[in-house]
Amino acid sequence: MCGIVGYIGNKNATEILTQGLKRLEYRGYDSAGVAVFDGKEIQTVKAKGRLKNLKDELLKTPVTGNLGIGHTRWATHGAPCAKNSHPHTSQDGKIAVVHNGIIENYEQLRAMLENKGYTFKSETDTEVIPHLVELYYDGDIFCAVKKAVSHLSGSYALGIICENEPDKLVAVRKESPLIIGVGDGENFIASDIPAILSETENVYFLNDGEIAVITKDTVDIFGKDGEPVIKKPEKVTFSENAAQKDGYEHFMLKEIYEQPRAVADTLRGRLADGMPVKFDDFDSKLISKFRKIYIVACGTAYHAGLVGKMAIEKLAKLPTDVELASEFRYNEPLIDSETMVIAISQSGETADTLAGVRLAKSSGAYVLAITNVLGSSISREADMTFYTYAGPEISVASTKAYTTQLVALYLFALFLAENKNSALPTEIDIVKKELLKLPVSLKKVLELEGEIKRISKKIYKETDMYYLGRGLDYAVAMEGSLKLKEISYIHSETYAGGELKHGPIALIEKDTVVIAISTNKEICAKMDSNIKEVTTRGAYTIAIVNEATAPQHTACSHMVVMPGEGSVLSPVTSAIPLQLLAYHVAYQKGEAIDKPRNLAKSVTVE
Ligand code: AGP
Repeated sequence: MCGIVGYIGNKNATEILTQGLKRLEYRGYDSAGVAVFDGKEIQTVKAKGRLKNLKDELLKTPVTGNLGIGHTRWATHGAPCAKNSHPHTSQDGKIAVVHNGIIENYEQLRAMLENKGYTFKSETDTEVIPHLVELYYDGDIFCAVKKAVSHLSGSYALGIICENEPDKLVAVRKESPLIIGVGDGENFIASDIPAILSETENVYFLNDGEIAVITKDTVDIFGKDGEPVIKKPEKVTFSENAAQKDGYEHFMLKEIYEQPRAVADTLRGRLADGMPVKFDDFDSKLISKFRKIYIVACGTAYHAGLVGKMAIEKLAKLPTDVELASEFRYNEPLIDSETMVIAISQSGETADTLAGVRLAKSSGAYVLAITNVLGSSISREADMTFYTYAGPEISVASTKAYTTQLVALYLFALFLAENKNSALPTEIDIVKKELLKLPVSLKKVLELEGEIKRISKKIYKETDMYYLGRGLDYAVAMEGSLKLKEISYIHSETYAGGELKHGPIALIEKDTVVIAISTNKEICAKMDSNIKEVTTRGAYTIAIVNEATAPQHTACSHMVVMPGEGSVLSPVTSAIPLQLLAYHVAYQKGEAIDKPRNLAKSVTVE
């Protein structure tokens, strides 16, 4: 979704803003712009489409200065075009604003401002903000912003500059992330850490309702009540390199290959041979009070939750429901103080998941967040956060975040089981040993890339595909299908093997591509019947199996055999061939793999 960068210091703001925006490209956008104070006035340059178009515009109308704000826009209100892109300016042109989020009462505000004589240049909800700030401006930009935001409903992260006070950059947020980067004689704002990682590692995370007045040498933060807030900048742990492609053609492929490392990092300090699982600061005394768990998440994180439910119920014997956050928030779930809600979110900013967290907390539940982003909104509102150490995930299609979420959920299931004595020590031990072996197992599965690439060349022209699985493999099949849809734009659906004959089998005809995941020796004979049901109707079946299940699946058209015999951890390893398949199919089709159409990395609006 939209990205924000702001700069104040001695360097050329335009250059810093465009570099920062480049690093935010992964969030998804359809237009971009910058507003820079050139020493006399604020100059705004915008363009529809990729950043390259903005750079072309900047070549035609160069602007330099030491103060500026920049934005990549993902259209919500008003078509993607230069006119609707940010920054938006006040009537007198002296105030410029970039905004992430949605102003829900913008129609009323727009009518009120029009009545007062303000004219609007765009169709956006955002444009009310610079006009409101102008309306309240009487020589103090901080006071004007404070008054203006008190009229806004909805969500916002704002970067604001004012021609009359060119030594200040103002930042304020509510329900949309915003950070302040601290430099030496320069400071930055950004919607996301990678934007400023090449400039500084020291950041302030703004809380909801906080306003910051930033000069090149100072950062003053104020609470909702206008009182100063004392906080220290935090050091971010990931390196700028982690946000670069490192020779891979796409971030997605790089991130697929990073999974052995990401899983090892997520396990480190939490699981060691012969030791009980350490689930960070989770207080084990709390466990006995929980009667029920809800896992709440969206997209890939929801698919991780489906696996988590099976692991928790198997090992910890605690009833667990998994809900799409967008449904959970409106479904009147039965939550009380004996409920634990696990919110899973790579970004920690997904609006629906955040709303689920708030609902859970207001109903008295304990909220555990599993997220990848330090200081994210969900981590701030949860009772406890368990961080996955996947490192920055830039590709819109999630890969390493998913496998590390799975690892977090397995660790939690084991932690509960050890503390509740709900599983046999031998059973717990087997899972722990498998977890410790995971980084090596993942490396071996990655060696299948060549074979998967060959398969992708056979199937990339398809318009429809079907994914089948049973139990844990069904959850993994759903994730595989989502990956394919997201980046290759091929329609695909997932069915539980046993459901086929209840309807979907009517869709199978000669050469229909069916991808069947079968990693569980106990039920692979059942899966094999499903494979036969489709192959006898002419389907081209690709089975993703392991050494234990392979002998069962002689009827399929192509078999990808993963090393090992499979276990409760199979979802982690079988994710890899499915990610690689989606990647190579999209590659053959020549699609924009890291930035698929219509999608955003961090979905901060409902
Ligand atoms: C996955 O490939 C996605 N692009 C998407 O489904 C994502 O998982 C979902 O939007 C949730 O995001 P989050 O983990 O940041 O909350």
